[in-house]
Amino acid sequence: HFYVAIMAGGIGSRFWPYSRTDYPKQFLDVLNTGKTLLQWTYERFIQFIPPENIYVITHNQYTGLVEEQLPGMVKANIVAEPSRKNTAPCIAYISHKIQSRDPKANLICAPADHLVLDNLAFNTTCLNALLFVRKHSALLTFGIKPTRPDTAYGYIQYETQQVADNVYPVKTFTEKPDLEIAKTFIKSGDFLWNAGIFAGNVKTITAAFKKHLPELEEMFEAASDVFNTPREKEVIERIYTQCTNISIDYGLMEKADNVYVIPSNFGWSDLGTWSSAYSNLEKDYLGNAVQGKNVMVIDARNCMVRVPNDKLVVLQGLDDFILIDTNDVLMVCKRGNEQQIKEYVAEVKRHK
Ligand code: GDD
Ligand code: MG
Repeated sequence: HFYVAIMAGGIGSRFWPYSRTDYPKQFLDVLNTGKTLLQWTYERFIQFIPPENIYVITHNQYTGLVEEQLPGMVKANIVAEPSRKNTAPCIAYISHKIQSRDPKANLICAPADHLVLDNLAFNTTCLNALLFVRKHSALLTFGIKPTRPDTAYGYIQYETQQVADNVYPVKTFTEKPDLEIAKTFIKSGDFLWNAGIFAGNVKTITAAFKKHLPELEEMFEAASDVFNTPREKEVIERIYTQCTNISIDYGLMEKADNVYVIPSNFGWSDLGTWSSAYSNLEKDYLGNAVQGKNVMVIDARNCMVRVPNDKLVVLQGLDDFILIDTNDVLMVCKRGNEQQIKEYVAEVKRHK
């Protein structure tokens, strides 16, 4: 009864202009590895979950990309959402869909766009999580030892006494705190970052929705007999026009009282920004990470450069810059400021 749902419907706008609304980050080979982030994610799970139990849930705009990139996937398990409503509706939908097939399903919901370096540790942690939620009505999170007061993450404060092998009760869950609060969390030492991967029995997950997002849950519950039938698409379209846009973190995890965490160490990185990609890339002796076959770097330091192979680029005298060139957009941005790229993109779109 072990299942995985890979969430692949986000836009990844902080990776603009490489990541676009019609071609988001999870479908890109951000680190030049020969595989896209989605492909790596699928490969991690296929090690220990049978293909018929692996789902990918995404916006209907991207189902073609998923099919193309994961030819081994069971086609019926590529689930399309008619609009972007963030991760709470996404998880409610996939939980119900899987529950109607297997009421005893234990489910991991995982982002499609993360980097994991230690696959074996990842597998072991996931199996530990699935075994725990099979027995306990728990919403299980994966916690990462934080290294800086990053405001892009959820913060998990947990009890010191474990209740099962490496599983701890969560005291508080705070999604994307402001910088001051994040700093106090880091200082106190008893917080972990939320890796964005969740595990739970489908019964536990739907019960949590019922308690904390009852309107959303009732819509899916009322539709329980259409899942995996020809009527599913039409009913889901109706639900998605009505349901709220909210993430699982704000909608459930901050409120629920049956949250647990597994402190995890599998070489996790969010790859949320160009800086995080930069820190995972190979660099020359002056700290430049250059992707592009025709780039001439003169007296530049600590730059992240990604340009098309057929473009000749000369870079001189720049320190700490990110330079991203795609066929139609060039972006040059000070490294460290790219958290704001999301805002720039919104601004650009307004003026277009
Ligand atoms: N299917 C679907 N539909 N997927 C979605 C949607 C949606 O509407 N919105 C987002 N996703 C996918 C994204 O593609 C990504 O893989 C995952 O869900 C998480 O969404 P993000 O938008 O990337 O969330 P975040 O990075 O801001 O925050 C989450 O992840 C952090 C760790 O990376 C939270 O869980 C944080 O608490 C966590 O620290
Ligand atoms: Mg993310």
